[in-house]
Amino acid sequence: MVADLDRDRVAAAYGRWAPIYDVVFGPVFSQGRRAAVAAAERIGGRILEVGVGTGLSLGQYAASDRIVGIDISEPMLGKARQRVQRLGLKNIETIAVMDAERLEFPDAAFDVVVAQYVVTAVPNPEKALDEFVRVVKPGGEIVLTSRVGAETGLRGVLEKWLMPVTSRLGWRTEFPWKRYEEWAARSPVRLLERRALPPLGHFWLIRFGKDQ
Ligand SMILES: C[S@@+](CC[C@H](N)C(=O)[O-])C[C@H]1O[C@@H](n2cnc3c(N)ncnc32)[C@H](O)[C@@H]1O
Repeated sequence: MVADLDRDRVAAAYGRWAPIYDVVFGPVFSQGRRAAVAAAERIGGRILEVGVGTGLSLGQYAASDRIVGIDISEPMLGKARQRVQRLGLKNIETIAVMDAERLEFPDAAFDVVVAQYVVTAVPNPEKALDEFVRVVKPGGEIVLTSRVGAETGLRGVLEKWLMPVTSRLGWRTEFPWKRYEEWAARSPVRLLERRALPPLGHFWLIRFGKDQ
């Protein structure tokens, strides 16, 4: 699959978003973030949040979890670190710059991998998903909130048409469910859940379980 996003351009785009990210994208995605954290909490333990951004979810994890947050954008992580300090969070193990497609962790290092509104922002989503599977323990879960494209109809046409604009802003609008299906069919995972998230149902909560 040819990458339609460029990693450095995505990192630069989120560097520009960082100062205003929470105001623009805080409330609109808040229900999805809560749903993802609730799903992760059913397992708990050592949790990797990929594309943690400004850390909007960090305060929602249980005190007993150990959270590792990574992101490609240092300015976004700067905001996350400030949040950790401000909220006095003691369950944050590390916040580090890292590429979702090249995770610097050993195999089976985490109980859960969470990626909220991230898969459609990385240049090679399937490569990132492969990395999520690699670092999660057998029996663990991958919890995603993700845009899923319309594929057909007016929304499908609009999403294709908007791609050149949104790729400069740092994400894809066009991302058919078929890509998740095809990836899952060749990976050691099974689909546990997928459901549309409010407010508009354009984003889904998706859970994959890693085979034992
Ligand atoms: C739409 S934001 C979501 C941020 C956060 N998860 C939230 O819910 O607000 C996408 C995040 O993914 C990060 N990102 C994009 N490409 C990445 C990559 N290849 N590796 C790690 N993080 C990446 C961006 O820097 C940005 O912080």
